[in-house]
Amino acid sequence: MTIAIPGITAEEIERAARPAAQAWTLPPAAYLRDDVYALEVDRIFRRSWLPVARVDQVPGPGDYLAADLSGQPVVVVRGLDGAIRVMSNVCLHRAAPIVEGHGRSKLFTCPYHSWAYDTEGRLVAAPLMEGAEDFRPADCRLPQARTEIWEGFIMATLDPDAAPFTPQVESLSRYFANYRLAEMVVARTLTYESDWNWKVLVENFMEAYHHIGVHPQTFEPVFHARDSKVVDGDGPWSILHMPAADPDAPHPGLVPGLEPWQAGALFAAAIFPHFLIAPHANGMAWYQILPRGAARMTLNIHVCVPGEARDLKDFDAIVDASVAFTDQVHREDIAANDLVWRGLNAPMTRQGRLSPLERAVWKLNRWWLQRLGALG
Ligand code: FES
Ligand SMILES: [Fe+2]
Repeated sequence: MTIAIPGITAEEIERAARPAAQAWTLPPAAYLRDDVYALEVDRIFRRSWLPVARVDQVPGPGDYLAADLSGQPVVVVRGLDGAIRVMSNVCLHRAAPIVEGHGRSKLFTCPYHSWAYDTEGRLVAAPLMEGAEDFRPADCRLPQARTEIWEGFIMATLDPDAAPFTPQVESLSRYFANYRLAEMVVARTLTYESDWNWKVLVENFMEAYHHIGVHPQTFEPVFHARDSKVVDGDGPWSILHMPAADPDAPHPGLVPGLEPWQAGALFAAAIFPHFLIAPHANGMAWYQILPRGAARMTLNIHVCVPGEARDLKDFDAIVDASVAFTDQVHREDIAANDLVWRGLNAPMTRQGRLSPLERAVWKLNRWWLQRLGALG
């Protein structure tokens, strides 16, 4: 049985679901409508594994970081027992979020009425509660999300029945084994607020076709649009391989042990729905997307480098250069996504045809239709 998606016709779904060489984009309603977004929250985001932090962001006991897991405030914390947990960051009293930002603490005290929790989520103090019958702080503990550590990412899901994450991306892990992603660390984070649907950014990330129009001075000279290839995977993900325009030039980088075909290349891997990483010879960019509504999202770009690079004497200069380039390229993408967003909102806009270079977009679209129940 197929389930209807609000504002999207059976004919539009059929066009988007055709084999890659015949496929069309998703229609504008997929991006614009609040009721479609509500379906995504319910059937996709709250049932998927999503990355909330890197292990290196909570290196020691008591280190914590507040994050968002599909509308659920969470705190990622390394307990005094050394274990990493992703706990609800909502007070068990009257639901105030407990901590913000990041830091190191043995105790998390709610700013509203000062209930305090330990690093494992147990309620250890609840002042002025004498006389509340049958109230036993020892029975109160913040709920925890399921977690997995994958390649240094702390993955979490709100779905108790979700299939384990790691087996779903096993061949993707193998593809990037040389990069030793697990040993990378976050060197700097850039944050952008944007007024678009999250899929506008994901689609832009997954294809290099736009290098000719959007990055003529930055990416196109080094990663030609026409050379990009999609690596077909066996799971809910895609890899875009952008080979070096000049494969014979030396391509020194911070990541040791890469093969020549990898050293000059850039990759864009998307694990559906919106977990995006771009491994390259100096490390990796992790694009952490936080959808806020149909037409609003926050993007954190975490510039990651191999852990041992922190010992280099010109480390700060290397990171500064990498951050400046990442920001420049993303600003070019922002301009392109702004254009798309204006166009998607126009009343005469319909589905468009996809290029074979956009095979990853096609794959995500099919997965999206499937997860919303539109393909039966
Ligand atoms: S809401 Fe947290 S102590 Fe009252
Ligand atoms: Fe781009």
